[in-house]
Amino acid sequence: MEKWRNNIRNIAPYVPGEQPKEKDIIKLNTNESPYPPSPGVRKAIEGFDADELRLYPDFVCSRLKGLLAKQCGAKESEVFLGNGSDEVLALCFMTFFNSKKPVLFPDITYSFYDVWCSLFDIGFKRIPLGEDLRIKKEDYFGENGGIVIANPNAPTAIYMENGDIEDIIKQNEASIIIVDEAYIDFGGKSIAPLIHKYDNLVVVRTYSKSRNLAGIRLGYAFASEPLIQALEAVKNSFNSYTVSTVSRLAAEAAAEDTEYFEMCRGKIIKTRENTVRELEKLGFETLPSSANFIFTTHKDINAEELFSYLKENKIYVRYFKKPRIDNYLRITIGTDEQMEKLLEEIRRYIK
Ligand SMILES: Cc1ncc(COP(=O)(O)O)c(C=O)c1O
Repeated sequence: MEKWRNNIRNIAPYVPGEQPKEKDIIKLNTNESPYPPSPGVRKAIEGFDADELRLYPDFVCSRLKGLLAKQCGAKESEVFLGNGSDEVLALCFMTFFNSKKPVLFPDITYSFYDVWCSLFDIGFKRIPLGEDLRIKKEDYFGENGGIVIANPNAPTAIYMENGDIEDIIKQNEASIIIVDEAYIDFGGKSIAPLIHKYDNLVVVRTYSKSRNLAGIRLGYAFASEPLIQALEAVKNSFNSYTVSTVSRLAAEAAAEDTEYFEMCRGKIIKTRENTVRELEKLGFETLPSSANFIFTTHKDINAEELFSYLKENKIYVRYFKKPRIDNYLRITIGTDEQMEKLLEEIRRYIK
């Protein structure tokens, strides 16, 4: 065996959804938006002077922070930025979960959480969702070293009322509570304004989904000033320049185009409701979705086989071979045309 082998970190990584090279795939597997970024984003990128790339990015990003802060009546000093919400969440885990007690999150949730716990040596405990695949707030009232809740949860797409999350926060004054709101714009109400009531609440958001900008990698968090300062210190001990100049410009333009944002999310919600209705006619049962994806099952259809059939026919959805959810498919909401093609293919499969 190579002598250096024992010095190497061995870890089971997060496995992202496939990013196929072929252009003719209907890609409903990674919860991206089917719509292009706002026209203002295109203009900002086209008007960008490449000479500027000689310099390091602006690491304060005051204007962008100001635009984001306005969304929830916060101050710039209550906003943290990062290279996608994955990075923001990873830095939150590193900064806030340093207790000997385990961090709690649901057994069925974003599968990156346990990877970060392993990476940073954080003890954790998976709390089983109820029979209905919903989070039971009482399960989070005991001792813990922190809590992470995706709201809406992924991959179930189920939204938890903010009042229930607030009950969890009230019971956990000594822990940091992270609420991952990657999908909040598709049917939920953000809990971010409560950062002014609870100084142990962190709300993480992203421009990858409802702002149609997965490619620029822009994530952010709202929290009380002491928590943001702690996050900044950890970030600056790792990499000071996490938001590139081009990403910052694109995000600023997107933040200003509220009308386009409202139009896109409105279309996605409408397409989602149509898709759920059509799937129901075919015998599928879909969990109530407040996200830009649905989680659906059929008692007479093997989800893994349907997943493979769709893939052979150039439609990519997501399948998780995990206990309790191994007969579900997670399907991102695309355009009406894409969803019609998906439904046609499913009808053909059933026949
Ligand atoms: C629940 C949840 N949180 C966070 C992310 C990360 O998103 P991004 O890093 O693109 O901001 C995802 C991505 O799919 C997600 O599903």
